[in-house]
Amino acid sequence: MTIAPLRHADVARCVEIEHELFHGDDPWSENAFRSELDNGNFYVGAYVDDALIGYAGLAVSEYEGSIHTIAVVSAWQGRGVGRTLLRTLLAQVDAAGVPVYLEVRTDNTPAIAMYLAHGFEQLGLRRRYYQPSGADAYTMGRPANRD
Ligand SMILES: CC(C)(COP(=O)(O)OP(=O)(O)OC[C@H]1O[C@@H](n2cnc3c(N)ncnc32)[C@H](O)[C@@H]1OP(=O)(O)O)[C@@H](O)C(=O)NCCC(=O)NCCS
Repeated sequence: MTIAPLRHADVARCVEIEHELFHGDDPWSENAFRSELDNGNFYVGAYVDDALIGYAGLAVSEYEGSIHTIAVVSAWQGRGVGRTLLRTLLAQVDAAGVPVYLEVRTDNTPAIAMYLAHGFEQLGLRRRYYQPSGADAYTMGRPANRD
């Protein structure tokens, strides 16, 4: 597996993966991915033989990082891809010396376990954050690593 910057050429595949993974929660469109890339946010893909199997994205300001998305296709879940993507994002926020935040469905046990194992804690609850499902989200945060 290779981690590399996400390319505009990957956007159509990202949208397919979004529909597989987030079908009840307003999956992102091609325009959403393009504007994330055009806005200069930090996006990486996980590739096997040039096929995209996952992606993750982050916005970083001088004050904080915000994880916008992280996804691994079903066939590759549970094999360390998500962890590798998350650690790639965390290296960016650590280089900037800022805290990082994200939202996650309260019923997403695998993702919550992954975030807890990487220094995040639950900070708050956003009711009906996801639409159209109406699912609740936890806000999670990880303090700045200033080592
Ligand atoms: C959440 C997601 C990105 C994790 O990626 P992954 O490649 O499956 O995860 P990894 O194999 O790298 O495992 C990383 C950690 O996640 C947790 N985890 C993964 N699968 C799990 C499961 N089925 N149950 C509990 N914890 C799990 C564990 O803490 C694991 O660490 P460990 O192997 O040391 O125990 C992936 O499952 C996914 O894309 N899910 C659908 C989309 C999604 O929910 N994205 C997150 C939105 S906030």
